[in-house]
Amino acid sequence: MLGFNFSFMMAEVIGAKGITERGIEGARSKALAAISELKQKKRAEMGWLDLPWQDTSAVKEQAARLRDFENFLLLGIGGSALGPKCVLEALSPLHNLKRDKHKTPGVFIYDNVDPSTLESILSVIDIEKTAVNVISKSGGTAETISAFMIIFEKLAGRKENFVLTTDPEKGDLRKLASGGMASLPVPPGVGGRYSVLSPVGLLLAELIGMDSGELLRGARDIHEKCMSEDVLKNPALLFAVLVYLMQSLEGRGMDVLFPYSDRLRAFSEWFCQLWAESLGKNGLGLTPYPSVGTTDQHSQVQLWMEGPADKVIVFMRVEDYGADFRIPDVFVEYANMAFLRGHGLSDLIKAEEEATELALAKAGRPNMTITVPGIDAYHLGQMFHFFEIATALTGFLLGINPFDQPSVEEGKRLTFGLMGKKGFEDKKREVEEARAGKTFLVL
Ligand code: PA5
Repeated sequence: MLGFNFSFMMAEVIGAKGITERGIEGARSKALAAISELKQKKRAEMGWLDLPWQDTSAVKEQAARLRDFENFLLLGIGGSALGPKCVLEALSPLHNLKRDKHKTPGVFIYDNVDPSTLESILSVIDIEKTAVNVISKSGGTAETISAFMIIFEKLAGRKENFVLTTDPEKGDLRKLASGGMASLPVPPGVGGRYSVLSPVGLLLAELIGMDSGELLRGARDIHEKCMSEDVLKNPALLFAVLVYLMQSLEGRGMDVLFPYSDRLRAFSEWFCQLWAESLGKNGLGLTPYPSVGTTDQHSQVQLWMEGPADKVIVFMRVEDYGADFRIPDVFVEYANMAFLRGHGLSDLIKAEEEATELALAKAGRPNMTITVPGIDAYHLGQMFHFFEIATALTGFLLGINPFDQPSVEEGKRLTFGLMGKKGFEDKKREVEEARAGKTFLVL
């Protein structure tokens, strides 16, 4: 199971800028209201809480059908791509180089509209031997749909190459699915950023040779703990209360996710999207910041130690990396090298993680640590479910709806205007007027 250590958030350890037990006690009634809002599942967008118990047979069936393709190209954006990306990087790093070509396709994730990326992907795959997974809950996201249209034409409409992961009832992709293209559902009440444990993330997991059931088993195993009404026994609620108090009492509105693993770099990005899009609204919110240890010790830690006192650092400590290298007995005459010999690289990365926690704490900089026994499907499932629940609870503590994203709409409407969508002519004019008023410097 994951572990959670929050000592370095507390005033008794880090001094006056920390949280007191009385502070946690003071938030108890709000915390109770938040957990009961979660448990009652009254909002329509809370179907993701049931994902750990879903039937995975349709996902497995599609995976079996697609496994013989040489490549797997995923088209999606935001919550419809970051989850699968995270599954790929955590569970099968360097997948395309290390994979067994007889067992699993090469994987490419196109989650932007950068034409040069699409060109690069198409230059290394044989599109006819490629399975294409189009993921869009709404079925109408311009970035994803435009790529789909291009690939569909390149494949001359060969339906058997596609699987559409979309809303079970609504949207254009669903209509296409009814016309004979294979599909998987993003179940009701599951928004993009809460969808990784739905077919959105599970199909890719199966295709890279993982058992999607393990992701779900991990999520199930952490679920009950995250439903407890006792703040000190519920890690997700405690996490939410601590970040909430740090912001409301100490003005620390930035949360840095700092996993000590390259395999969790994409997890950091996934968390940032979940946290930002869920919590930034009504003039409120918490700002996420993605990071990776030890790399960012040489990039960011100076700022965190001595810069503005506006951050909470969330370490993720990995106990077992599943691999290790012993540092050999060479260069023993050099003091800067001799002390390293005999240790494993995993000793060094863990020592650096622990040391950085303490150094920050000594400087009065609050931090907490999620411990991860190992990076496998089971623990990744726990991590996804834990952070989704913690995000929803933080939203409830802030008094906002953590499941919508109303303010991304205006940018979409202005884009529609520029791209000539019917009914958005006034938006086109608005952009053009703004453009005319811009000041350009030729450099
Ligand atoms: O988290 C979200 O809800 C968003 O980031 C969506 O995932 C993103 O906008 C893509 O939406 P869709 O899946 O409808 O294409």
